[in-house]
Amino acid sequence: MTKKLYIKTYGCQMNVYDSERMSDVLAAQGFSSTEVAEDADLVILNTCHIREKAAEKVYSDLGRLRAAGGPDGRLIAVGGCVAQAEGAEIRARAPFVDIVFGPQTYHRLADMVERATRGQAVVETDFPTEAKFDHLPGATPGRHGHTAFVAVQEGCDKFCTFCVVPYTRGAEYSRPAQAILDEIRALASQGVREVTLLGQNVNAYHGAAPAAGGGAGGAGPDGDWTLARLSRAIAAIDGIARIRYTTSHPRDMGGDLILAHRDVPELMPYLHLPVQSGSDRVLKAMNRKHTVADYLKVIDRLRAVRPDMAMSGDFIVGFPGETDADFEATLQLVERVDYASAYSFKYSPRPGTPAADLGDQVPEDVKSERLHRLQDLLSAQQRGFNARMVGRRLPVLLERPGRHAGQMVGRSPYMQAVVVEAPADAAGRMVEVDIDAVNSFSLNGRIAGGEWSPRPLYPASPAVAATPVAGSGL
Ligand code: SAH
Ligand code: SF4
Ligand code: F3S
Repeated sequence: MTKKLYIKTYGCQMNVYDSERMSDVLAAQGFSSTEVAEDADLVILNTCHIREKAAEKVYSDLGRLRAAGGPDGRLIAVGGCVAQAEGAEIRARAPFVDIVFGPQTYHRLADMVERATRGQAVVETDFPTEAKFDHLPGATPGRHGHTAFVAVQEGCDKFCTFCVVPYTRGAEYSRPAQAILDEIRALASQGVREVTLLGQNVNAYHGAAPAAGGGAGGAGPDGDWTLARLSRAIAAIDGIARIRYTTSHPRDMGGDLILAHRDVPELMPYLHLPVQSGSDRVLKAMNRKHTVADYLKVIDRLRAVRPDMAMSGDFIVGFPGETDADFEATLQLVERVDYASAYSFKYSPRPGTPAADLGDQVPEDVKSERLHRLQDLLSAQQRGFNARMVGRRLPVLLERPGRHAGQMVGRSPYMQAVVVEAPADAAGRMVEVDIDAVNSFSLNGRIAGGEWSPRPLYPASPAVAATPVAGSGL
């Protein structure tokens, strides 16, 4: 008899990826997915600990789940970063939770479910010595079949003073290049055209080079492959037309990765590069280990080699001790960069992180006011960016049917949804689209040409080609 599995995912794309892998692991145990929590024999909340609101939501959701009930013998599991941070405490607050498991243990889910079925309380939040990825089935295509997330790196050694991720995800780990290339080849043969390489610090990637053929050229100091080298190998895989990666840290934006944006047309000209603040004083207190000038230099270099490079970022307002002048500096930085899109948050003190214990916490109303001003500016920039697409011809990867018959929706290089008239069997095709209108959540356009090859559209600029960029980033 098949059992039903319901997973709710909170937080970042890595968690989305993890949830997909969890359902793959459990599919082998006879679980099929349902969208209805009350029908599920196993409910997993894959949680996020990044801000207080996200973490607290888990407990209200647990209460609701319990009240709504479910089939006899239904199991409730809490996974992800709250599980890692709070461990057995979760069962103290919600004793009806059967399984608590961290982000590095979910390859053992089948065994955990089996033990819980026998009535054991399961808490698995260790950082196991074996690599999770060696025990997981390969990544699968996303919902519409033509894009996929592929984890290449996980964990973080940066210890920004506000952030829980180094504690919930553990130390930096890079998967061997060969395993990643094999996985992407398999995805490509299933129709995937676009891969998003995932990692908490994805551009710190330094995975073991494949055993034979090509350790040279772009290999890191110890013979490992960098993200730039890996991207070039992925770009050479038949069928892969687009490569994205997220999330990057400014300090790891190495010279070879910047140059890859010039030389590898499959690398999309859209980069999420969080900076958090535009004040050097605040950046120092955050332990970001880079200045505003360092950050701007990286963007200038990127735009020098790839003039159409669009930027995305993350910002925190109201970090302890942030003054009006610090906040104004953040607005100035935003003005200077001109973001295509960005995420901004009020600082949320997290237990166990150094910044939570700092004096000089910023009052809530000041945080709210700053967040509003910042978001107004960022949304104006985003509207401006989208408006500038009108009249341009953009390569679009068609992904899924649109709302109306005869329509397809795809993505521009900048992640904008683009609606065009096209037959349903055009999904997975790369087309050129003349953009003629911009709406709140999408662009409209007309297909100008068929199968698009990434090669000829953006010729390298020879003037910049000769400019060396320091190997270690900043
Ligand atoms: N690894 C990525 C993202 C980490 S979390 C990076 O280094 O950029 C995603 C975003 O959440 C961060 O970029 C930051 O803007 C925000 N964030 C992290 N901790 C936070 C906190 N305590 N309060 C508010 N926002 C936070
Ligand atoms: Fe958190 Fe900083 Fe690591 Fe990003 S780099 S995950 S913000 S500690
Ligand atoms: Fe949240 Fe964990 Fe991702 S804390 S942002 S789910 S790494």
